[in-house]
Amino acid sequence: MSAQIIDGKAISSQIKDELKIKTAELKEKGIEVTLAVILVGEDPASQVYVRNKKKACEYIGYRSLSYELPVSTTQEELLNLISDLNARDDVDGILVQMPLPDHINEKDVINAISPAKDVDGFHPMNVGALCIGEEGFVSCTPAGVIQLLKRGCEGTIDIAGKECVIIGRSNIVGKPMALLMLRENATVTVAHSRTKDIANVCKRADIIIAAVGKAGFVTKDFVKEGAVVIDVGINRGADGKLCGDVAFDEVSQVAGAITPVPGGVGPMTIAMLMNNCLEAALLHNN
Ligand code: GUN
Repeated sequence: MSAQIIDGKAISSQIKDELKIKTAELKEKGIEVTLAVILVGEDPASQVYVRNKKKACEYIGYRSLSYELPVSTTQEELLNLISDLNARDDVDGILVQMPLPDHINEKDVINAISPAKDVDGFHPMNVGALCIGEEGFVSCTPAGVIQLLKRGCEGTIDIAGKECVIIGRSNIVGKPMALLMLRENATVTVAHSRTKDIANVCKRADIIIAAVGKAGFVTKDFVKEGAVVIDVGINRGADGKLCGDVAFDEVSQVAGAITPVPGGVGPMTIAMLMNNCLEAALLHNN
């Protein structure tokens, strides 16, 4: 058996096109969605991410404000900028690209962003809202996985009642992912580096979501015949090529559906960030 491919690039384009239409309608009502993007330092990967986020804004029709600060920026200077942006009526969303230089405390920075402008969904208020089932911004990568499951395979994947194993317990992916799958009424297990016999734990899953950060960690021995496998990993293989946490060639022989890397979860993160920006503008103009 060969798995169906869940095409994140196509689904992400579909979401961005939907947002483009809504953005044009908002513009007619005099509302312009504005995202402020802050990058501290010159990390090349972060520069690429920030460029892609700005490009997505341009495509959809948002205004983006760019703050590219030197690596020598102090925490106080960064917090002052965030405070200014929090107060500005013409800014809907604020994104501070991570990681930050070592002399800046990421937690303090996240806490400084107004929860109403926290389009990354990293602020404890938004994480708490997700935890107790209230409205708030949801972290973009796990929100993107939910969209892949809902829109992939022509909408035929049923989440409710399914056994879902998430591998990884990070604050940005694993934990919010577990809460989102619970919200969709899945039966959720979170496996991690201390889980005993992880292959067998995964083998009972109807849906596996891998967010471990280890190239090819999920082999066919982890996967039940016909299971849906979502690969959140972005790793560099020994050959220098991008690869996921899932050994794609062998797992796709067993799985019912699978996301590729690249072209799976990756493009969804930006699409969901763009969705959060529009939500922030609606909240702000309500
Ligand atoms: N660095 C890597 N991923 C992300 C993300 O989703 N948001 C921000 N702000 N920084 C990141």
